[in-house]
Amino acid sequence: MNLLDLAKRRKTVRKFKKEVPSVEDIKYAISVAKEAPSGKNDQPWFFVLISSEKDKERIREICERGEKEFYEKSKGDLREWLEKMGFTWKKPFLSEAPYLLFVYSYVKSPFSRESVWLSIGYLLLALEEKGLGTVTYTPTNIREVSSYVGLPKEYRLEVILPIGHPDDPKPKYERKDLNNILKIL
Ligand SMILES: Cc1cc2nc3c(=O)[nH]c(=O)nc-3n(C[C@H](O)[C@H](O)[C@H](O)COP(=O)(O)O)c2cc1C
Repeated sequence: MNLLDLAKRRKTVRKFKKEVPSVEDIKYAISVAKEAPSGKNDQPWFFVLISSEKDKERIREICERGEKEFYEKSKGDLREWLEKMGFTWKKPFLSEAPYLLFVYSYVKSPFSRESVWLSIGYLLLALEEKGLGTVTYTPTNIREVSSYVGLPKEYRLEVILPIGHPDDPKPKYERKDLNNILKIL
């Protein structure tokens, strides 16, 4: 399958089958991610893979505490959008996905965040190639969640990727037409 077909097939997945993916497939996706370009070639990414039920439950609790506060405060357009999408403070995918992959940036590197998000893009497509799904979950209380893992403070948690075999009937959302996002001078 070529890259365009993979990119078109990929969609965010928030429901997962119980079947546990091979850890080799996740290592493959990280191997792809680490080929991304980075500022000064510093390769400022770091990954922590979590599969213990106890840790996943605890992480879910911490995240949901932050989400509850966030949802209570949200109003206006944002609140309407969240309601329309059916999103709530509950994040069951954090304990139901077989794996949680924490992705960190090393803050002392130049363009660390930009570089790490590029690598995350690579990673999403590599997971798709292996038939795995994920959601780029960005917790509202990212510092609190990060302290659960306890890396040195120079590592900033960018995203939690719950990973598993997709079991989510949600459709692939439409993308803008190329003509509307490209101007050739
Ligand atoms: C930077 C970024 C942050 C996101 N944060 C969240 C999040 O916290 N929770 C969530 O459920 N989805 C999150 N998403 C997923 C988006 O909602 C999703 O990618 C978007 O609606 C398009 O859907 P698709 O990926 O299925 O094409 C995030 C996506 C990106 C790129």
